[in-house]
Amino acid sequence: MCSKNIVYLFLISFCVSEIVADSIAPGILPDRTNRVEDIYLRYYNGQTAEDYVDIPLSQANKLFEIKGFDQNNPTVFYIHGFIEVAQQESIQVMVNAYLEARPGTNVILLDWSNMAHGSYFFNAARNTKKVGTAAAEQLNKLVDSGLLLDKFHVIGHSLGSHVAGYTARELKTKYNKTIKRLTALDPAFPAFYPDGVVMEHVNAKDADFVDVIHTDAGGYGAPVRTGTADFWPNGGKSIQPGCPRFAPIPLSDDNLCSHWRSWRFFAESVRNPEAFPASPAESYHKFRENPNPEEGMVYMGYSCDNKAEGSYYLTTNSQTPFGKGMDGLYPKSKSNSIKK
Ligand SMILES: *[C@@H]1O[C@H](CO)[C@@H](O)[C@H](O)[C@H]1NC(C)=O
Repeated sequence: MCSKNIVYLFLISFCVSEIVADSIAPGILPDRTNRVEDIYLRYYNGQTAEDYVDIPLSQANKLFEIKGFDQNNPTVFYIHGFIEVAQQESIQVMVNAYLEARPGTNVILLDWSNMAHGSYFFNAARNTKKVGTAAAEQLNKLVDSGLLLDKFHVIGHSLGSHVAGYTARELKTKYNKTIKRLTALDPAFPAFYPDGVVMEHVNAKDADFVDVIHTDAGGYGAPVRTGTADFWPNGGKSIQPGCPRFAPIPLSDDNLCSHWRSWRFFAESVRNPEAFPASPAESYHKFRENPNPEEGMVYMGYSCDNKAEGSYYLTTNSQTPFGKGMDGLYPKSKSNSIKK
């Protein structure tokens, strides 16, 4: 993508996000405090996302007292996006996937909904740094108290990807602790690309391994590679298969359909780790022309090989189950052309 395009998309996204955020803010959203003191950790202590214990982030050490929490188990730390709240479908889907398919995993939500609201540019995007800094301070204590950093996986969606980035960076620079794996699910575009102009985006140096799933690149999602391994299902852009062609209302469910594919794909991979084989390629076009797409194949999502590096491509179904298995590497196969 040429840089002119990036700047253009940046400006468009800026305008759209501002108009939308400011027009839906009054009335619809509950009052939010916007204070770091009102960030919570939600620990899921049962078999579904309905069973949880909320504790203030500043008292993170209380996690160790919660029945069911086992510091020796792997921990997934999920960070939601702009104007999202804990009851959000994205969170339910991700959390239930882990609780049902990966018992023995500590599943924790970073609930920063009190700071993820209002004007995208002037409030929520800027807050990502404050939230990341506060989260890192507490994670540092948790690790010092026995939480295993080696089994700690941070997953962020959209704006939450950049909270994850700031968290990991702060842990590294201030506390000398490096997160093993950070997954960014369609990291938010506006205010974070180009890097450093307004905010700094999540990047490959934030953790030992950073995997990224792009599903609305250049729209709500990052327009460029941003991790150690970047996955571009169906080319990585809107409109993803199965999403509506006409969805003019910004931030409506239809309009977010492609952006939301990122967590839908990841959640499916938690249940079915081999659902999404992906092939290394320089572009979607080259992937489609590749006669040997299985060469260098890795899985997208849950079971991603941490030695993966560069860009990977695949195709998916238009509805759940999205994963096509190995068929996803052959976009031009007969079964596909028959479907059309
Ligand atoms: C940072 O951590 C590494 C490995 O845990 C250790 O070898 C190194 O001495 C630490 N550096 C500082 C400045 O504490």
